[in-house]
Amino acid sequence: MLVLGIESSCDETGVALYSTDTAEGLLAHALYSQIPIHQAYGGVVPELASRDHIRRIVPLLRKVLAESNRSLADIDALAYTQGPGLAGALLVGAAFAEALAQSLAIPTLPVHHLEGHLLSPLLSRSPPNFPFIALLVSGGHSQLMRVTSVGVYEFLGDTLDDAAGEAFDKTAKLLGLGYPGGPALEQLAARGRPNQVKLPRPMLHSGDFDFSFSGLKTAVLTRVQELGGPDALDVQQRADIARGFQDAIVEVLVAKSLGAVKTCGLQQLVVAGGVGANRVLRERLDAQAASMGIAVFYPEFEFCTDNGAMIALAGALRLQAGAQTQKDGAFSVRPRWPLADLSNH
Ligand code: KG4
Ligand code: ZN
Repeated sequence: MLVLGIESSCDETGVALYSTDTAEGLLAHALYSQIPIHQAYGGVVPELASRDHIRRIVPLLRKVLAESNRSLADIDALAYTQGPGLAGALLVGAAFAEALAQSLAIPTLPVHHLEGHLLSPLLSRSPPNFPFIALLVSGGHSQLMRVTSVGVYEFLGDTLDDAAGEAFDKTAKLLGLGYPGGPALEQLAARGRPNQVKLPRPMLHSGDFDFSFSGLKTAVLTRVQELGGPDALDVQQRADIARGFQDAIVEVLVAKSLGAVKTCGLQQLVVAGGVGANRVLRERLDAQAASMGIAVFYPEFEFCTDNGAMIALAGALRLQAGAQTQKDGAFSVRPRWPLADLSNH
């Protein structure tokens, strides 16, 4: 079975073709990142995002078909991101997918964006086995959950305020770095000195698996102000603050994730979402996990941030698990859609 996946929830248009034939798997994927479009504004401009998805989606589909040497007639089902995300951006992908499915007389399968991230390590050469604990850290989410099988997710913890990626982005902005902040802050922190700037470890000992990062951002702001404001900082001071921030957030993420694996009596941790691309997070997790006999799995770098491959995969796995498909062309998007709702579908 060939599943076409379409992702358009935020600032990346992704299209991919996935075959459920185990000898084939992911046949091709193509991505267009809108980062250059939004950079000038310091963040994603929803209307510009929607318009650009419209421009990119057909060329990306053509590219994927050409690369996989398949035609539209070969596609058996169409999976697309139904939410959560920006309403206008989601509507572009949903409308395109439903119209294409109607013209090809094939079924559609709306996919939860975070389920895509959650399952994305299964695209790796050495994937995890069910069950595992997943740490989902993206621009909008910081969640820990137990993944029993496709569609069976048990919530362990969530952020009470800012998501990890959001904290990276906001702190980067405070330090005068561009959008997206995560990679820029990681780069700057690499030049920072350890323990030069000590910041709080929010909820490290809270005894649960929840996170809170807005206080950390405020601590950075206070520190910047104490030093005379963002313009008064030299490069070393900025790097030291970035290092202090990254060390604090990584320590909390590592401790809570490994604590969740241990508490649930499992041996595998999956890290998904854009923040999972952070190399310091990976290094510290790997080191501590190894000492506890825990194996950590990451998506390939290209599948850490938003992409079509994870949506095609999630759709294909859901189809194989007997999920209900749509055939009538009717659709809606779900800009706010808790992942916890999925297990009930
Ligand atoms: O998963 P994603 O691409 O989109 C969402 O679904 O939100 O995640 C984007 C987030 C942004 O906040 C970005 O700053 C963060 O992931 N990010 C990073 C790194 N690369 C991306 N954060 C820390 N270190 C990185 N290397
Ligand atoms: Zn995402």
